[in-house]
Amino acid sequence: MAFDTMTPLTSPQRSLPRRKKPVHRGERRNVINRLLEHRSIDRLSYEEYREKVRDVYDGPQGALLATCSFLSLHTVLGERLIRKRVFDLHGARRILDVGSGAGQIVKHLLKYADPEAEVLGFDLSHEMLRRARIRLRSARPRFFGADITRLPFADATFDCVTCGYVLEHIPDPRMGLAELARVMMPGARMLLLTTEDSFSGAWTSRMWCCRTYNRRELRQTCEQVGLHWHKELWFTRMHKVLRAGGICAELVRA
Ligand SMILES: C[S@@+](CC[C@H](N)C(=O)[O-])C[C@H]1O[C@@H](n2cnc3c(N)ncnc32)[C@H](O)[C@@H]1O
Repeated sequence: MAFDTMTPLTSPQRSLPRRKKPVHRGERRNVINRLLEHRSIDRLSYEEYREKVRDVYDGPQGALLATCSFLSLHTVLGERLIRKRVFDLHGARRILDVGSGAGQIVKHLLKYADPEAEVLGFDLSHEMLRRARIRLRSARPRFFGADITRLPFADATFDCVTCGYVLEHIPDPRMGLAELARVMMPGARMLLLTTEDSFSGAWTSRMWCCRTYNRRELRQTCEQVGLHWHKELWFTRMHKVLRAGGICAELVRA
């Protein structure tokens, strides 16, 4: 199928009216995280915060994203999850990669998804998409500018979604998760990776102006929007024991 239900956004969401108040997160955070985490996500309206995130990724920090993912081992560990079929791409026909960044996950999709699978990625930052195209040097993935909270796709379009380290850029996870649930077919699977409310997560939050998630609360939110928390995934045994590698889960659209 050609993705005929999709409308590429040339300048994603820049014309949205500004909402005056920040979105309150509401959940409990431990003292260390309250002190260390970046604050702008709590202080700004979503539209203002989104502009800030776009600037971060458009700029020099975004240019270093692929290197940071490599050095933090996320690239190699993410690939391992997919290569070993801990998250199995076999049989997926339409795969959506959320917030593709420098194409770190799309690269794994191109390598391990079935050859006939359509691979589509989107990002808020056009500059990141440009970098992803240059890095991947492949005509196969289709990239779009879009915001996770307002996707230009019809309901039930995808049977597989990968969402790596994007949800932390949303003040209220329901804004993104409900939209992803909408575009997923019943039974579709999602690989969700996100920053946890740990000490290392707090530093990540500082570096990338994002928030962190409490694992239990995020799980409840996923279930509320119709994304069943099918299984927790772990990069390594060390990740499971120390909980230092963030939240990693396979979700299934109910
Ligand atoms: C940390 S990078 C993750 C890149 C890649 N997915 C990975 O797993 O390494 C976060 C990406 O999400 C994008 N992003 C942030 N907020 C977004 C939003 N509201 N909608 C779409 N993309 C967003 C950023 O521009 C950035 O490229």
